[in-house]
Amino acid sequence: MSSILNHLEDQVLTLTIHRLERKNAFTGEMYAALAQALSDAATDPLVKVVLIQGDPTVFSAGNDIEDFLHQPPAGEEAPVFRFLRGISTFPKPLLAAVAGPAVGVGTTMLFHCDLVFAGDNVALSMPFVNLGLCPEAASSLLAPRLMGYHRAAEALLLGEPIMAEAALEAGIVNRVLPPTEVNAYAQTQARKLAGKPLNSLVETKRLLKASSAAQVQAVMSEEGAIFGRMLREPAAKEAFAAFLEKRRPDFSKL
Ligand code: COA
Repeated sequence: MSSILNHLEDQVLTLTIHRLERKNAFTGEMYAALAQALSDAATDPLVKVVLIQGDPTVFSAGNDIEDFLHQPPAGEEAPVFRFLRGISTFPKPLLAAVAGPAVGVGTTMLFHCDLVFAGDNVALSMPFVNLGLCPEAASSLLAPRLMGYHRAAEALLLGEPIMAEAALEAGIVNRVLPPTEVNAYAQTQARKLAGKPLNSLVETKRLLKASSAAQVQAVMSEEGAIFGRMLREPAAKEAFAAFLEKRRPDFSKL
């Protein structure tokens, strides 16, 4: 069974991340499936809204660490970059329902969503520095813009999770709900949007994002080049090995 489940109903395409045995960590195949679904949905007249959701216990553990080690993304056409371009340029309303841990891209993808609903168990984290990496998905631009510089620096330098109340206060989620109600609430809001005229939704979203659209792509591309290089450097290799060996990384010589 695929780890990305697609369900179309009432003009809402729901994409469910479903790889619970690995805490919904993303593989290249999953990015490719999401990129394809978004690309198809952008032009499909039967789709007005897309909702991305996880499980009430976990949204996503971010990129699969074994994949980072053995199949690091190479070049701008790598599935992860196609996915990031897909969410950052998706023309129709894009919603997310997030509960439990959302690590790395599990958090940075939310900055591209129009509405984000969160479980009260949510833990949003961007531990790139702890992994010897740097921000991706234009998070170095969007995190300070959405949360303010100091909160963004705290999240991106220390890599500590932002819990539900702080996420709501920082304005990076719209509403906090009990974890088992998040997906259903997001679905209700998605269907509300699907009842509205598509052209108005699309033009409104385009205008909301217009001032930063080019900059987002430029920053994402710059981050992607640095991230790709850092994935192959000693700090990241040590961090990935430590994760897989279930020990603390030793950066003392790095
Ligand atoms: N890549 C590959 N495997 C992962 C993974 C990832 N990103 N995240 C979790 N897993 C695996 C674990 O190794 C573990 O495997 P095992 O059963 O063979 O031991 C299994 O999924 C369950 O994870 P576990 O850590 O035991 O679950 P938890 O509930 O205690 O913690 C997380 C959940 C998400 C907080 C934790 O798994 C985590 O921090 N993951 C790594 C996140 C990360 O650094 N991602 C990269 C971001 S750029």
